[in-house]
Amino acid sequence: MATTEIDIFANEEKRSLELAGHVGFDSLPDQLVSKAVSQGFCFNILCVGETGIGKSTLINTLFNTTFESDEASHYLQDVHLRPKTYDLQESNVNLKLTIVDTVGFGDQINKDESYKPIVDYIDTQFENFLQEEMKIKRSLHNYHDSRIHICLYFIAPTGHSLKSLDLVTMKKLDSKVNIIPVIAKADTISKSELHKFKIKIMSELVSNGVQIYQFPTEDEAVTEINSTMNAHLPFAVIGSVEQVKVGNKMVRARLYPWGSVQVENESHCDFVKLREMLLRVNIEDLREQTHARHYELYRRCKLEEMGFKDTDPDSQPFSLQQTYETKRKEFLVELQRKEEEMRQMFVNKVKETEAELKEKERELHERFEQLKRMHHDEKRNLEEKRRELEEEMNSFNRRKVAAETLMGQALQSCSQQPFKKDKDKKNFFSLPSACSLTSGRNLN
Ligand code: GTP
Ligand code: MG
Repeated sequence: MATTEIDIFANEEKRSLELAGHVGFDSLPDQLVSKAVSQGFCFNILCVGETGIGKSTLINTLFNTTFESDEASHYLQDVHLRPKTYDLQESNVNLKLTIVDTVGFGDQINKDESYKPIVDYIDTQFENFLQEEMKIKRSLHNYHDSRIHICLYFIAPTGHSLKSLDLVTMKKLDSKVNIIPVIAKADTISKSELHKFKIKIMSELVSNGVQIYQFPTEDEAVTEINSTMNAHLPFAVIGSVEQVKVGNKMVRARLYPWGSVQVENESHCDFVKLREMLLRVNIEDLREQTHARHYELYRRCKLEEMGFKDTDPDSQPFSLQQTYETKRKEFLVELQRKEEEMRQMFVNKVKETEAELKEKERELHERFEQLKRMHHDEKRNLEEKRRELEEEMNSFNRRKVAAETLMGQALQSCSQQPFKKDKDKKNFFSLPSACSLTSGRNLN
């Protein structure tokens, strides 16, 4: 058999050739950029943090606008996620921005399950994308990609350490999303305390094996700034949409009786660092990491769960068709097994019912026989009694007849001797037999 052409090309060495003149494919990056710009971009931010920690204010400050937001109640039974999408434009770049807010986070007495709705939400967005990818008719170019690119995790400015809720939640999320931890309301913590707090947080994250997002340092253009910024994590931020006059400039700040704290002043907080890192320098890396790392992991696990493999036990490539056939066979065998199991169950059930019915029939029959016997005995007793009564009646009748005969004779003899003395009469009527005969009381 001839070696295939593909093999020849695969083994062939690539040679570099010089072009004699301008050809034009150097416009490829420009074409890519203009195509991407015309399609627009999407960016999805998840804000995780306790109620009232400053999530909405920070997002408004980041994008220099006012997004819709309702104040959350502290009495919600569970955590839920509220996504809102906006179309933003800067220069000629369109950005479809989705902000997902965690509502009611940290408010429940039992916080064991607080991370779950967040994990479920992230997984659902991955699942939706996977479903779209697996469709026969895909439309990924105009698909609204809702996968979360960044999770801003708001840490309360306690100055102590992370809460266990923070550690558990970040641990559950770190393989699914890029996490950037931020210390919220950093104006409420002193400079020296903040420094120690940052060190404490980072050491706790490391010792608990929580992987937060690291700004990439591979690209030379951003190596320096990104490595410097990695050392500043977690960023201590302040949010405010209030404009305050400082000198002769209007700046965003928070005003206090003793002075003001300026949001965009780097000696006051890390807000500018966060905005630069998140939106100006690394936004594309965050999108890429989401697709290439987090989504890829989700997709791999999901496909493996569904039984797809890249290689067979002999390390040979596994075709999709083959996997499908194998799965189909497995499924049919399983189906048959289940069918047989159900049929057997049905037969057993019928047998059981049959046995139960037979037992009931036998019991009924026994009862019937018993009743029949009882009835028979009763009938016999009654017969006996009837016979006795008949005998009694017969004897009574016989005695009655005898008595009547005796009485008849007595009356006859009385009528034949009409002139007997009173004494004799008295004697006759005082005779016990005569009295009893006339009264008829003791005849039976
Ligand atoms: P929910 O959406 O209700 O969970 O609240 P949230 O996390 O969105 O907080 P929000 O931005 O509504 O802010 C709550 C309160 O904190 C408001 O009174 C803000 O003015 C205040 N706040 C926001 N950011 C800061 C900050 O950086 N420092 C201080 N001191 N207060 C802030
Ligand atoms: Mg809010």
